[in-house]
Amino acid sequence: MTESWDTIADWYAERLQSGSAMHDFSRDILLDRLPPRLDGQHVLDLGCGEGIITRALAARGVSTHGIDPSPRMIAHAQEAERLEPSGATFTVDDGCTLATIATASMDWVTAGLSLNNVPDLNAALTAVRRVLTPGGSLAFTIPHPCFETPHATWTETAPVRRVIGDYLTEGFWRSANPEGARRAGNQHRTLSTYLTALIGNGFALKTIDEPAPDATVIAAQPHRAGLPPFIVLHACRA
Ligand SMILES: C[S@@+](CC[C@H](N)C(=O)[O-])C[C@H]1O[C@@H](n2cnc3c(N)ncnc32)[C@H](O)[C@@H]1O
Repeated sequence: MTESWDTIADWYAERLQSGSAMHDFSRDILLDRLPPRLDGQHVLDLGCGEGIITRALAARGVSTHGIDPSPRMIAHAQEAERLEPSGATFTVDDGCTLATIATASMDWVTAGLSLNNVPDLNAALTAVRRVLTPGGSLAFTIPHPCFETPHATWTETAPVRRVIGDYLTEGFWRSANPEGARRAGNQHRTLSTYLTALIGNGFALKTIDEPAPDATVIAAQPHRAGLPPFIVLHACRA
């Protein structure tokens, strides 16, 4: 069976809801980019999956809406919201068009580990720019493109080190790891492609961070020490 985000949605939701140090870390480093108070503001969570970021924001009292093209992911997000209401809302939509989202209706767009899944980054950034208010912000995480290259692996003998695959070959690839989320496939792009696309689509880069894995991630995956698994970018609609 060829996996997709929809076919692995049950597995993904179960993994996050039973506690995943890496996903909690990726959520926290993204939320750290947002001001602690966003009273009266509207946030769109692009590629929300089962809603880990959407619900965390809504629980802060922020008006937060999540979209994802996977109906099964959205069903999980809505079920989690039903069981423990935070105020978050969800619809099925494609981040490359954001057809359900009104123009200039969002003060912030968050995208946790999702822009590395959209097939057309320029289309997604055009859509994000359209839905943002003037001066609005995009904050997103992606797997660090320099280290999480297609088919990157680990050495088998100590000291365990990351073995980087082909950084310069961009495009869709699928992990062979049956326990990895990237078996659903994802789009590899170089760091310069992301930065150039942001600038070319009318965004001004505010910050770029490469957070060190926290103690919980290191406890779960000691070999992760010393490398940032994710990169966090914050850009404003120029
Ligand atoms: C690694 S999951 C991240 C989900 C969630 N943001 C999180 O942090 O757990 C990647 C998500 O990107 C979504 N995705 C794939 N293609 C997309 C697209 N064209 N537009 C928006 N999201 C997309 C997938 O359905 C999936 O839910």
